[in-house]
Amino acid sequence: MGDTDKAGIGIFGAGWVGLVTGACFAELGHTVVIRDVVPERIESLRAGRVPIHEEGLEQLIERNRDRLSFTLGVGEVAARAELLFVCVGTPPTYSGDADLSAIWTVLDELPAETRATLVMKSTVPVGTGDKVRAALEARGLGHVGYVSNPEFLSEGRALRDFMQPDRVVIGAYAEPDALAVAALYDSLDTELVQTDVHSAEMIKLASNAFLATRISFINEIANVCEVTGADVEEVARGMGLDRRIGSHFLRAGIGYGGSCFPKDVSALKQLAGNSGYHFQLLNSVIEVNELQKRRVVGKLKKHLGHLAGRRVALLGLAYKAGTDDLREASSIVLAARLLAEGAEVVAWDPVARPRDELRGATLAATAREAVAGADAAVIVTEWPELRELVCEEVRAAMRTPLFVDGRNLLDPLAVRAAGFAYEGVGRPTSPFSALPETEEPEPRVRR
Ligand code: UDX
Repeated sequence: MGDTDKAGIGIFGAGWVGLVTGACFAELGHTVVIRDVVPERIESLRAGRVPIHEEGLEQLIERNRDRLSFTLGVGEVAARAELLFVCVGTPPTYSGDADLSAIWTVLDELPAETRATLVMKSTVPVGTGDKVRAALEARGLGHVGYVSNPEFLSEGRALRDFMQPDRVVIGAYAEPDALAVAALYDSLDTELVQTDVHSAEMIKLASNAFLATRISFINEIANVCEVTGADVEEVARGMGLDRRIGSHFLRAGIGYGGSCFPKDVSALKQLAGNSGYHFQLLNSVIEVNELQKRRVVGKLKKHLGHLAGRRVALLGLAYKAGTDDLREASSIVLAARLLAEGAEVVAWDPVARPRDELRGATLAATAREAVAGADAAVIVTEWPELRELVCEEVRAAMRTPLFVDGRNLLDPLAVRAAGFAYEGVGRPTSPFSALPETEEPEPRVRR
């Protein structure tokens, strides 16, 4: 397909999914117009400033400037594009259902003369395609095609996930629409899953729910390892070599977070419930995850006794390394628990900048500042630079040399050899305690 044949693509929503999708399609040679409702966002994008943190995205947008444009105008997008991608947010409502209001707004704004095909990339409940078609019909836009084309992008490696996908899922009511979307990915070496719209919508939700289930499973295995003396890292290694299991998403830790897993798991559970089916497994996946975030408190108490007046350093706040995203991050729950226990919480993260998510905690400028005078250092996000804290200087600076490693980031032997007590997740506990006899801490003056 020569450049001139490349489809004109319109994108509704200049958020993380919209910008990554738009920039990657431009990189593949397509002409892309991205529309958003927030004037400041369009302004900064036109000025070359990318309002989100994603590895390599700024450079990709810069490199494809000639094929990428940004607008507030719906007409401009609908007029110039054959394929209109919907990449707006579908956050959870209080009931756990997905809030689709931004999608309905897009539909309401579509010009009557729209000829393009609508392509859903936002994560939506199964059955949304039917509802969209009915809404289009009601607006006299029944001729507008509809395709479900879910994204499987993960933060921190989204460009690679787009350009080297394990599969591209396309659910359509009409074959020509499916082929038009499939052609966009022609130059990618991947598997094409062409199916019906309901199944495409379910593939997205089920995939995320299954990955979250794997994490809750390995976290429970880790908890059993703690009471049986096994090492979950060894267990995961042994399990993962089984081709039927595979090694991905078997990292025990402090619970999953982020803008996708918690939302999609509860949306799928809610969807099932709305359709009369009680999805028991997902209930447990959610419950295990919430408990896993709190298990650190028990580990701290095991070493420190009560936590009132203790100073606890939380190292890493983002829901995973490689992003500044705090959505559903375990750090937020943990900080609140510790403050409720009367502890003083000092938090640090290299890029995440909490606004009021960590009210009551103190933010440190460096990890070393956070651990100075601390009774414990808790690793919450697997930032590799935290490994440098395993040294004599930090041991001397801490009031109690104790690491609670919520990500199994550190090497237990090295930590103990450096004179710290160590508590991982699902790892054999320290054969000896570096703790001095626990004397009552001086009462700390609350700042
Ligand atoms: C996820 C999916 O990976 C992606 O396909 C989907 O499109 C969006 O949701 P993301 O939320 O960016 O992407 O992060 P991911 O790397 O999947 O991690 C999700 C959470 O699970 C993080 O909190 C991470 O720390 C945790 N996790 C992941 C584990 O605790 N153990 C693991 O083995 C893997």
